[in-house]
Amino acid sequence: SANKKLLILPGDGIGPEVMGEVRRVMDWMQARRAVSFDVEEGLVGGISIDAEGTPCSDTTVARAKAADAVLFGSVGGPKWDSLPFEQRPELGILRLRKELQLFANLRPAVVMEPLAEASALRADLVSGLDIMIVRETTGGVYFGEPRGVTTGADGKRTGFDTQIYHEDEIARVARVAFDLARKRRNKVTSVEKANVMQSGRLWRAVVGEIHKAEYADVELENMYADNCAMQLASRPKQFDVILGDNLFGDVLSDLAAALTGSLGMLPSATLGAVQPSGKRHALYEPIHGSAPDIAGKGIANPSAQLLSFAMLLRYSFGMEEDAALIEQAIERVLQSGLRTADIMQTGRARVGTAVMGEAIVRELEKLAG
Ligand code: NAD
Ligand code: IPM
Ligand code: MN
Repeated sequence: SANKKLLILPGDGIGPEVMGEVRRVMDWMQARRAVSFDVEEGLVGGISIDAEGTPCSDTTVARAKAADAVLFGSVGGPKWDSLPFEQRPELGILRLRKELQLFANLRPAVVMEPLAEASALRADLVSGLDIMIVRETTGGVYFGEPRGVTTGADGKRTGFDTQIYHEDEIARVARVAFDLARKRRNKVTSVEKANVMQSGRLWRAVVGEIHKAEYADVELENMYADNCAMQLASRPKQFDVILGDNLFGDVLSDLAAALTGSLGMLPSATLGAVQPSGKRHALYEPIHGSAPDIAGKGIANPSAQLLSFAMLLRYSFGMEEDAALIEQAIERVLQSGLRTADIMQTGRARVGTAVMGEAIVRELEKLAG
């Protein structure tokens, strides 16, 4: 069969550093697992601004659309922080999500057993934790118009954004959450602020209608987003699938990351609709950013990027066995005691990005026999 077409967009900061470890694993797979990928590399973010004057060129969009899957690193950094809003590196990922209609961002927050002691919470509260956050990613306040900063007659400025959701946007992401719940522990917690926001009221109503009409077998719970944050930080194991809009989903997933031992551990998959051709656009990225505070030091944790690659293998290429191998290899390396600097655990020797990557490949080698 034709080679699987993969577009890699390392981006800025630690993006290229952790992507290097994906390349290492990919090389191992091609040598030892008889798979081959047709890999292209492209520009996005600040590096693209420097080279092409835009955070995401039409060429990058076209290549992303043509690929079977996109593996994204991270974008942004102090070098580009003073650029006008419309030119910032972050627009690179936003444009890709919008152009490829990647509306459902799947963010698993799983505690690997060796890291239960590294959680921001007590080990007994997080041991075995396995949450799936489903975040809407093409709508809401991230894209709503009008938005801007205006200056009034008095010379004072007003900044504004628009939170806006069409019912079809809510319904399609809700279906993704319910479908996932059926394959998991059959529960969806939908979060909004229906008590203060009109769009939140609609969100709750539409999720309820979809539930009643199509997913009555799944347990649905509605929860205010602020309460959800508190519940996540105190009794996280009550959750199975959490469904939220673009902004609440973003915030709650970083919170969930702290439960797993580090932001450097969590991957994500952003999926589009299944098209008539059967193709479904998909982009995979860690939930962390470009980490400017540690970029260039060779100490970033490559796990989130590698686990994003594993999700890509699972969801886009149907390579469940290879995906599971990578996840197991990472868990075993953690079991052996190796820790990158970000893991919130004292009394451990720290290793850098490459040592971590090499150890993961060694475990892969053992696992694959
Ligand atoms: P960040 O996620 O980059 O970093 C937050 C903290 O976590 C930092 O202390 C960082 O060192 C640490 N960290 C993150 N990933 C790590 C890893 N793999 N290994 C070790 N430590 C890690 O968030 P930020 O500092 O708020 O943002 C930095 C830049 O990244 C900003 O320009 C922001 O807009 C951008 N950003 C991009 C993405 C993305 O590309 N998808 C996501 C979030 C933030
Ligand atoms: C993420 C990031 C992005 C977001 C930024 C960089 C636009 O925080 O992927 O979580 O807010 O969606
Ligand atoms: Mn984020």
